[in-house]
Amino acid sequence: MSRDLANRTTKLSESKTLVITATANRMRAEGIDVTNLSVGEPDFNTPDPIKVAGHAAIDSNFTRYTAAPGIIELRKAIANKLLKDNQLKYDPTQIVVTSGAKHALTGSLLATVNPGDEVLYPVPGWLSYPEMIRIAEGEPVPYHCKGENNFRPDLDELRSLITPQTKAIIVNNPSNPTGAAYTPDEIREIGAVLAEHDLWVISDEIYEKLRYDGEEHLSFAQVDGLFDQTIVINGVSKAFAMTGWRIGYLAAVPALVKAVTKLQSQMTSSCCSISQKAAIVAIQNGEDETMKTMIAAFAKRCEMVVEALNQMDGVTCPKPEGAFYAFPDISAFLGKSVNGKRIDNSIDLCQWLLEEKHIALVPGAAFGAEGFIRISFAASDEDLKTGLQRLKEGLAELK
Ligand SMILES: Cc1ncc(COP(=O)(O)O)c(C=O)c1O
Repeated sequence: MSRDLANRTTKLSESKTLVITATANRMRAEGIDVTNLSVGEPDFNTPDPIKVAGHAAIDSNFTRYTAAPGIIELRKAIANKLLKDNQLKYDPTQIVVTSGAKHALTGSLLATVNPGDEVLYPVPGWLSYPEMIRIAEGEPVPYHCKGENNFRPDLDELRSLITPQTKAIIVNNPSNPTGAAYTPDEIREIGAVLAEHDLWVISDEIYEKLRYDGEEHLSFAQVDGLFDQTIVINGVSKAFAMTGWRIGYLAAVPALVKAVTKLQSQMTSSCCSISQKAAIVAIQNGEDETMKTMIAAFAKRCEMVVEALNQMDGVTCPKPEGAFYAFPDISAFLGKSVNGKRIDNSIDLCQWLLEEKHIALVPGAAFGAEGFIRISFAASDEDLKTGLQRLKEGLAELK
């Protein structure tokens, strides 16, 4: 025996955004004015009524362990939300409250995947998916949602990738990083392919409320024949500006709920009691005025960002239908140089833009999509204007 670290951790990749974040932090510490458009969280504060519920929980000493799958009032509120918004009928006992949607995703994978099982995940897609699959000792298998296909999956490819080894597929609608949000018909079409197979559909719907195309959000669990197969993942982080409170949830068939509850009871006991009380208010108030204001602001910024990007020579950017990211194609700039430095890929480009133009963006390579960059519009109008101007100036210098 030796004190080597477990393969489980040594095989995990470090986030490709880490280099950018570390450089941005160092520059800020040196007093450099860096415009950060790389973050994946609302710039708004948590609405007051939610904060008041958090304070009340502390004041009334609601500060002890809770039941492992979450307090029943919150599970009821979530079940009501799923019924009202998604016409999905779950008993509150079919809900597990988790420490963020991230924890609901890892819990779902740990509960379903055996070593070597294949799990399909979207590319471009959120960089945590393949790493979470590895944590569960599964084999990550990418399916592509290419720009030329409007960032939708190719159904023929999807069919060809599903094998007897496929245990689960992760679907993410609306998508981080592409901003693609499927129409109900598209969901039904993709869902029909998945319903032909005995696999779990892990449906990450964390950006459900952030939608700009006026289309209805259909959950994969609503597709005919998919209810029992689907694990609905959602949470309060993005829609209610509550990223730090760490509350997410999953809804699924009882066997899955029991398995995730067992895992959670051994790994975290439960999630934060105070945050659970606050999340009840968020979920019960649903679309109150604060949330509507925030979404309207994102919609306005989305227009502004996409217009400015498409006006830059060599950049093309489809309009995101949801989430809060623009994902422009910058491939025209790869292979160009500036001051003797060659920009070979999106990581080089983001590194150079950060060091020389003081704007932090995420390289498409981090999401498996070389030739793209991700710009978050969950930032103030002022930061967006400054950032876009810096980007425009930077790209114009590449020859
Ligand atoms: C696609 C996607 N799913 C899940 C999450 C995690 O959300 P939470 O903060 O609730 O863990 C994120 C956060 O960036 C995300 O982009």
